[in-house]
Amino acid sequence: MKQYLKHHEWHIIEEGLDPHYNKISESVFSIGNGRMGQRANFEEEYSGETLRGSYVAGVYYPDKTRVGWWKNGYPEYFAKVLNAPNWIGIHITIDNQKLDLAKCKVEDFRRVLDMKTGLLSRSFAATLPDGKKVKVESKRFCSMANGEVGAIRYAITPLNFTAKTTLSLYVDADVVNKDSNYDEKFWEEVNKEATEGRAIVTAQTKKTFFHVTTGMQYVITNDGKKATFDRVNIELREKYAGNVIQLDLQEGKELVVYKYAAVLSSENHAKDALVTACAKVLTEAVAKGFDALFEDHARVWAHKWDGCDITIEGDIAAQQGIRFNIFQLTQTYTGEDERLNIGPKGFTGEKYGGSTYWDTEAYCLPFFLGTAEEKVARNLLVYRYKHLERAIENAGKLGFKDGAALYPMVTMNGEECHNEWEITFEEIHRNGAIAFAIFDYIRYTGDDAYLAEFGLEVLLGISRFWSQRITWSSDRNRFVMLGVTGPNEYENNVNNNWYTNTIATWTLQYTLDALNLVGKSNPSRLAEIIAKTNFKETTETHRWREIIAKMHYPHDEKRGVYLQQDGFLDKELLRVSDLGKDDRPINQKWSWDRILRSCFIKQADVLQGIFLFEERYDIETIRRNFDFYEPMTVHESSLSPCVHVILASKLGYKERAYEFYLRTSRLDLDDYNNDTEDGCHITSMAGTWMSIVKGFGGMTVKDGTLHFNPFTPDQWKSYSFRLEFRGRVIKVKISTDAVETELETGEPLEIFLHGKPVLLKK
Ligand code: BGC
Repeated sequence: MKQYLKHHEWHIIEEGLDPHYNKISESVFSIGNGRMGQRANFEEEYSGETLRGSYVAGVYYPDKTRVGWWKNGYPEYFAKVLNAPNWIGIHITIDNQKLDLAKCKVEDFRRVLDMKTGLLSRSFAATLPDGKKVKVESKRFCSMANGEVGAIRYAITPLNFTAKTTLSLYVDADVVNKDSNYDEKFWEEVNKEATEGRAIVTAQTKKTFFHVTTGMQYVITNDGKKATFDRVNIELREKYAGNVIQLDLQEGKELVVYKYAAVLSSENHAKDALVTACAKVLTEAVAKGFDALFEDHARVWAHKWDGCDITIEGDIAAQQGIRFNIFQLTQTYTGEDERLNIGPKGFTGEKYGGSTYWDTEAYCLPFFLGTAEEKVARNLLVYRYKHLERAIENAGKLGFKDGAALYPMVTMNGEECHNEWEITFEEIHRNGAIAFAIFDYIRYTGDDAYLAEFGLEVLLGISRFWSQRITWSSDRNRFVMLGVTGPNEYENNVNNNWYTNTIATWTLQYTLDALNLVGKSNPSRLAEIIAKTNFKETTETHRWREIIAKMHYPHDEKRGVYLQQDGFLDKELLRVSDLGKDDRPINQKWSWDRILRSCFIKQADVLQGIFLFEERYDIETIRRNFDFYEPMTVHESSLSPCVHVILASKLGYKERAYEFYLRTSRLDLDDYNNDTEDGCHITSMAGTWMSIVKGFGGMTVKDGTLHFNPFTPDQWKSYSFRLEFRGRVIKVKISTDAVETELETGEPLEIFLHGKPVLLKK
C-alpha cells in the first residue's frame, strides 16, 4: 500500500512528479462523461512511462483470441475497448527542444482532480536542457453536459526567455491497444481534413466498422489578446490531422491554448453525417468558450452530487475514498443509453476489454438504484433484455435448446467473448446474477410492471438453462451441477458449487413466482410471452419444482457450514495468516496448479450467496460460515472486501468491517493491489458504496420497506447518505449517538430503524 496522494475531501492531489508512479496517476486522475473518457495523460509529449488511453463508449474490436488447442464452444474473439483517437495532444518545441517532462527538470508539479466539478488540472515549472524555464498550467474536462465535447485550457509562460516556439495541435487516430493480441492496429482511416484552426479525422474500426469522428479546434491568446502567428502549417499524415503553429513565446507573457474537441461515433450519427455533425459541435463549443462550457459541465456534476454524495465526518482519507469511488462510477455510466454498460475498468484502462461482466448486476446495480433516478438501473436491465436472443444463441452453441439462455461472462454485444474456458466460461453463476438483478430492481423500486414488459422473458430463458444444465445423480438421488467455476476463480471445473446451485434453484423459484404474478396482473401479456417463447408451462414448471425440491447443496454437518463445492474438505485447511509475505498475492507468486489445489479463496463465494439471500439464514449460520471462509480468503479480486464489510457489519465485527472498508474504498488511491496502473477497479467501487449503505448503514429492503440497522465505525464521528427510493429522496445521517432521517422529497414513507417503525414526512 502506498500513500502517495494527498488526503483532501474533494480533491485528489499529487505533488511532485514521480515517473514510476505516473501510470498509476494516469489511471486515478482519469476523466469521463459516460460517452467517452480518458486516462490522465499529459498533453505535451512524454517519453517516460505512460499508458496513453482515450476510450469511446460502445466502440470495440473483436480481437482474435489466443488459445493453444481450440475446442468446440470456445468464443471466437476477445472483445476490446479501443484505444480511441487522441485529441488531447499539444506538443511544444522551444528553440528546437521538445517540452518533455521526462527530459526536463520539473519543479512544483501538481496534478489535481477536482471531483466536485470533474476538472483535471496540472501545473509545473520545467527547465529545458538549455536552461529555458517555462511554467505550465492546464485544465481539462470531458463535458457532462454534452457527452461529445471535451475542452482543454493550456497556459504556458516563459519565465526566463523569449524564443521561437512551435505548437503542434492535432487529432491522432494512429493509436494502438497495449493489449492487442497480435500487435495489430485496430483503426483504419476513413477521411481527414485540416484547415487553419481546425482538424477532423474519421477512423473506422476493422471488422466492427464503427466510425469515430474526432475533431479539434483551437483558439490561442497571448497575454490576454488573440495571438498572432509567424506561420501555420497544415499537417496531414495517415490517420492524423493537425496544425503546426510557429510563434514567439515572450518572457513573462502567458500564452493560452484553448483546445476544443468533438468526439462523435456512428453509434449516434449516420456515418455520412459524422463530419458535418462534428464540425457543428466544434463551432458551437468554440462559440461558447471554455468557461461557459465548464459552467454547464460543473452544473451537471453539482446536480449529480446532490443525489449521490456520502459525507464522512472525522476521517478525511475515508471521505476522499468514498467520493473517489462515487465520482468514477458516475462518470463511467450515466444511464442515458441502454446500449451501454460498465466495464470493470471503465474509461481508465484497457484491462478486461471494457466489456460487461456479472459485476454490473451483482455490484453496480444497487449503487445506481440508490443514487440515480429509476431509469438508470432499469436501462442496465434492459441492456440484458436486448441481449436475450444472443444469450439463447450462446446456449445453443453449447448444445442447449428450447429457448435456454446463457448470458456471457464477458460481452460487448451479447456474444460471449472471453478466451479462458475453465475460469470465465464455466462461471455460469453469472446467469443467476442477471436473474437476481431483476428481483433486486423490482424489490427496490416496486416497478412490478417490469416483469411483464421485459423481466419474465429473461427469467424464462435463464431457468430453462438451469433446468437443462442440471444432472440427475441416481447415486445421490439428487440433482447436481457438474463442471462449473463459482465466483471464487481459484477453483475451476468443480462439482456442486454451493453458490451456483443456490442461485440456480432460487432463479427457478423466482421464475415460478414471476409467472404467477404476471398471470394475475397482465394475463394477456403472459399469453403472449408463452406463445412467443413456446413455453410448455405444465411440463417445464413441473421439472423446475422437482429440481428445487431435490437439489444437492454440499454441507458439513460437523462445522455447520455450507461447502463451497464437493470435496472442499479434502483440502489442507490453512489460513491466510499461515502464508508468508513472499506468497502473496498468490496469483502472482504461485503456480496455477498450486492455487487450484489450495484452500485459498480469491473472493467471496459461499459468502456471496449468504450476502444475496441474507434473509434465509439466521445470524449463527452467517457467523459460522463467515468465520470458516473469511480466514481462507485472499481477497485478490477487488469485488471481495465489500461483501465482507456487509456481513462483518451484520455480525457486529466492527473493526473487521472497517478494515475491509478501507481496503475497498482506497484500493486505487493507495494502489493496494499493485495494479492500478492498468486502470481503476470501477465495478468494485460500487461495492464501496454498498459497504457504507448496506454495511455500516445496515440498509435492506423487506416487503417494499426500507430498513436500517446502522452503526458508526469508531474512526468516524458521523456519516450521511441520500437514497432515491420509490419517488422519494431520503437523507440518513448516522452518528455515534443518533440516527437522523429526513424525507427531502416525495410522499410520506414508513421506514424501520433498528426494527422500529419511523414515519418520514416533510
Ligand atoms: C473476478 C470476477 C470479475 C472480473 C471482472 C475477476 O478478477 O474474479 O468476479 O467478474 O474480475 O471484474
